[in-house]
Amino acid sequence: MEFLSDDLQEYISAHTTKAPDYLDELERETWVKVLMPRMLSGHVQGQILKQFSIMKRPKYLLEVGTFTGYASHFLVEGLQEDGEFHAVEINEELEFLIKKYWAKHPKFSQMHLHIGPAAQILNDLHKPWDLIFLDADKAGLLTYYEQLIPVMPSDSIMLIDNILWSGKVTEPVAKNDKDTKAILALNEHVANDTRVEQVILSARDGIMMVRKV
Ligand SMILES: C[S@@+](CC[C@H](N)C(=O)[O-])C[C@H]1O[C@@H](n2cnc3c(N)ncnc32)[C@H](O)[C@@H]1O
Repeated sequence: MEFLSDDLQEYISAHTTKAPDYLDELERETWVKVLMPRMLSGHVQGQILKQFSIMKRPKYLLEVGTFTGYASHFLVEGLQEDGEFHAVEINEELEFLIKKYWAKHPKFSQMHLHIGPAAQILNDLHKPWDLIFLDADKAGLLTYYEQLIPVMPSDSIMLIDNILWSGKVTEPVAKNDKDTKAILALNEHVANDTRVEQVILSARDGIMMVRKV
């Protein structure tokens, strides 16, 4: 988020629809109890996900990298009545917190959590995904992308988070760490992929919107 000034971030935050109170509680509990609480999306990114979901009205919806489940609440807003939401998270210690707050959502019965490494779970979880939010480890990004793109129907959407990596994607190559290299590799791969059209949204840490053609 460092490429936007604090003043601009505050302005955007103040002029974006707030999260429901129970999600503010989840945010507080995440900050008190969980390591690396900054991984939680926040209400601005949440609203972006919610608007995509409402426009897309997905039947099959996937989140890869769920953390404490904050973004899931926004993603499921547009889910069809007979739709399925699947979320993948490697850290089993987060299951309690994810489910504690998911249970407050009216679509809880449609929300399925898979605990384990994403590459393994995606091998066995085959659905014609309409909307995907990719937000797990950067090292796995290319693998998940290639597991998912072939099974996505035409006009389905994949949103990939942290694609600008606090602006590190334009730093000199010699300074690139492992995660920056992984993100650069993915961005190049997508840019050369004729199966998709894509745009990088400069919201928050950069969100790549990929549409399967
Ligand atoms: C940035 S956080 C996700 C934030 C969440 N989507 C939100 O918006 O609140 C990334 C999550 O991916 C999980 N993760 C990391 N490596 C993973 C893997 N190989 N498979 C599944 N989840 C993974 C981490 O444990 C962490 O909870």
